Amino acid sequence: MKIFLIGSILLLNAVFLFAQDKNTNQFTPGKIWLDNKGVHINAHGGGILFHNKMYYWFGEHKVAGDAGNKAMVGVHVYSSKNLTQWKDEGIALSVVEDTTSLLVKGCIIERPKVIYNKKTKTFVMWFHHELKGQGYKAALTGLAISKKITGPYRYIKSVNPLGQMSRDMTLYVDDDAKAYHIHSSENNQTLHFAELTDDYQDFTGRYTRVLEGKANEAPAIFKKEGKYYMISSGTTGWDPNPARLSVADHIMGPWKELGDPSRGTDAENKTTFWSQSTYILPVYGKKNAFIYMGDRWTPKNAIDGRYIWLPIQFEEGKPILKWLDQWDLSFFNNMFM
Ligand code: GAL
Repeated sequence: MKIFLIGSILLLNAVFLFAQDKNTNQFTPGKIWLDNKGVHINAHGGGILFHNKMYYWFGEHKVAGDAGNKAMVGVHVYSSKNLTQWKDEGIALSVVEDTTSLLVKGCIIERPKVIYNKKTKTFVMWFHHELKGQGYKAALTGLAISKKITGPYRYIKSVNPLGQMSRDMTLYVDDDAKAYHIHSSENNQTLHFAELTDDYQDFTGRYTRVLEGKANEAPAIFKKEGKYYMISSGTTGWDPNPARLSVADHIMGPWKELGDPSRGTDAENKTTFWSQSTYILPVYGKKNAFIYMGDRWTPKNAIDGRYIWLPIQFEEGKPILKWLDQWDLSFFNNMFM
């Protein structure tokens, strides 16, 4: 009897844990995504760094209303082991009250990305930075560093890289540890792929102009079987537009356009499932598993912006996107390549 009772309790526990896990390991694109405190995750235009078996998600902290499109707080960071349950780790980079600082509250901080420099044992954050009261005129990229992944990050400088404009941006670290700052330049008409110095805190001077005059924004890069892929968007501000896919044999190019990666209804393709790319995340420990991370912006109430995370699928070896209401990481186990 005793054994039977203990057995039943163990079984019930297992069923409970399984049911609980079923709910918490699911991605539900476009739905409210609660952190460990029960608050909708606030990390828009984000990027992810995998470090010491943990994922860290950095993004724009937005506030309610249209003021939320300005940096009123800074860059928010969350941590997770499984990519669905996220712990609030606080503000990694804070704006300041000091009106003489370029980082004054009310400036614009967008698309922050963090990479780790092994040589200097330093976390390096670059972000699109615009000056308070000047709209998107300055076209700067900002640098902040920290010895601790979650911060606080120390603001170093903001620059027009090599004298060029830099708006939407991302970072990419290649297998040889060389890092690249990729940004919409020349008034958003041409992307620049600029090599960073060994400490990732400056530009070497080497850069290439990519997809000249094609007006790409929101670049996100990943590498699969030696080929570099980029998903980017057109330039329609907060409104979504069709995604663009490109491929290259070398990160610096030449890059070749492969068309629209979305495979949905007309309305879905025209809007990339109502999202704009921000990052492509390689899932640790799974081969050819990449997650498209996009933002569904809500500029009238910026804090309500939603996250569209979809698995990158492949069609004759070419990356594509399809809508899923709900999915989990086991999707990659059965994926047809
Ligand atoms: C988008 C860009 C966003 C933000 C927005 C402002 O095109 O991708 O990061 O800058 O414009 O309108």
